[in-house]
Amino acid sequence: MSFPVITIDGPTASGKGTVAHKVADLLGFHYLDSGALYRLTALAVLRREIALSDEHAIAKQAEHLVCSFKGSEVFLAHENVSLAIRAEEVGVMASKIAALPTVRQALFALQLSFRRTPGLVADGRDMGTVIFPHANLKVFLTASVEARSQRRYKQLIEKGIPANIDDLRKDLAARDERDTQRSIAPLKPAADAHLLDTSDMSVEDAVQQVMRWWAACR
Ligand code: C5P
Repeated sequence: MSFPVITIDGPTASGKGTVAHKVADLLGFHYLDSGALYRLTALAVLRREIALSDEHAIAKQAEHLVCSFKGSEVFLAHENVSLAIRAEEVGVMASKIAALPTVRQALFALQLSFRRTPGLVADGRDMGTVIFPHANLKVFLTASVEARSQRRYKQLIEKGIPANIDDLRKDLAARDERDTQRSIAPLKPAADAHLLDTSDMSVEDAVQQVMRWWAACR
């Protein structure tokens, strides 16, 4: 049986996670934070000090990822790593290993398994292009580099994680470059995605826009 899927893709700190979460709550749907799967793999790789050149060992980490989600909490095996995976160092490593085809392949089936009754909201980079190409609704969120680095800075500070705005701006631009330029599943809107620039938009307005699109395609 096939359950409805809404995909929300976009660059880092575009607000897609917050918007996707709220839309999932409003609809009573499951939520897939696909970036968390890359971050969990990156955390395992960093902890085991696996070299970026050892693609085979990195893919093994992705393949044997034991993770679970409870609300907004993320667990690696039984350890709550919700904060640890949000560290900038982990995000940077996530975007590096995400360019490895074997890692993407290893996480493919895991992502599909999130599609359950009554429906799914999936956020990431390639949800609408690769993982759920037949999604009922596809949204691509964007925002300027400035707006996104300010948001990321605020998020980190609120969580008590030290941050520097200039470093964040540089990391973010480098991550955009890696995500859009990689040969496999690059960050780009699906041909049939609705584009939404959230630079000057509140989270609530963005959520309402997605809900209007959802109502229109029912
Ligand atoms: O969304 P988030 O910033 O948590 O994702 C971390 C990294 O994982 C991204 O920079 C991106 O390189 C990678 N990613 C991906 N495909 C996805 C989700 C995340 O390549 N569907």
